[in-house]
Amino acid sequence: MTSTANRLTIRRPDDWHVHLRDGAVMAGVVPHTARQFARAIVMPNLSPPVSTVAEGAAYRDRILAALPQGTDFTPLMVSYLTDGIAPEELRRGFGEGVFTAAKLYPAHATTGSAHGVTDVANIHPALEAMQEIGMPLLVHGEVTDPAVDIFDREAVFIERVMIPLLARFPALKVVFEHITTADAAQFVEAAAPHVGATITPQHLHINRNAMFVGGIRPHAYCLPVAKREHHRLALRKAATGGSAKFFLGTDSAPHAVAAKEAACGCAGIFNAPFALESYVAVFEEEGALDRFEAFASLNGPAFYGLPVNAGTVTLEKAPCEVPAVIDANGTPIVPFHAGETLGWRLVG
Ligand code: NCD
Ligand code: ZN
Repeated sequence: MTSTANRLTIRRPDDWHVHLRDGAVMAGVVPHTARQFARAIVMPNLSPPVSTVAEGAAYRDRILAALPQGTDFTPLMVSYLTDGIAPEELRRGFGEGVFTAAKLYPAHATTGSAHGVTDVANIHPALEAMQEIGMPLLVHGEVTDPAVDIFDREAVFIERVMIPLLARFPALKVVFEHITTADAAQFVEAAAPHVGATITPQHLHINRNAMFVGGIRPHAYCLPVAKREHHRLALRKAATGGSAKFFLGTDSAPHAVAAKEAACGCAGIFNAPFALESYVAVFEEEGALDRFEAFASLNGPAFYGLPVNAGTVTLEKAPCEVPAVIDANGTPIVPFHAGETLGWRLVG
């Protein structure tokens, strides 16, 4: 890392959790991620989901085909765990280098989770295999019990699912994805070294009030939903505090404007276009610019056992205007920070 008052140069970062979608809209969103990140863990919640080795390889090929000419970007694929997933499929996918990890979506927890796991016991054989081969489990950590308040679903998940899961599979590598609570941050901090977490830009910037400023604000709605201010402050401490357990994962989740601005609007915030600019603002505000490189570019590779990237990116202290809407190859999408001016700009 090198820095002056106005410039910050770090090793090329990676995004350890992103939704790139498929088809025409994918071609519109992929360049935003590839502009900033060398690699990304690509979520498999397509319809139908990406579960088998053949589906993972085909999706990877479609992403590579959608990249602008000459782009140096590696998509890291993830298998979507279903109740009936065959451990052999995971072993083969991981062994052949198609799958980097596998994702646990509790059924009906979020967008594209209808084929998710109804009971973790159903995937015990898969988790056994993953533990044995060192394949990371990525977890959407929310219970789906409608009796649990939506703002408590992550904290309750720790007690009901995460603790028993780690007790049963003590050597399994686990990423608690997009954590939103002080409870999750403390849990991960205290857990074994092979338990980590990703943190999104939105959960560092906004609390739950953002969804209700002068009316209902669908573009501030994602899952897990933003929580109270004290949780946001705890996440900022976790991200900027220097612990190697926390790393960058945007959870960029694009939805067309019409799908967000609806009576039943989709969950998801499209933060890919200005993700680094958004994160670096937080590190500056916390007086932790010297720790940005570890969070963005070093902790993730160390957790996954991958080399850090060659090359660097440079951010410059300069106004960066975020448009009100972005045209993703014909689909209008409202980005995170729409209409705001951020204080840093990615210059190369
Ligand atoms: C994601 C999506 O739209 O695919 N939405 C979100 O709010 N984060 C799904 C997910 O990661 O929960
Ligand atoms: Zn996600």
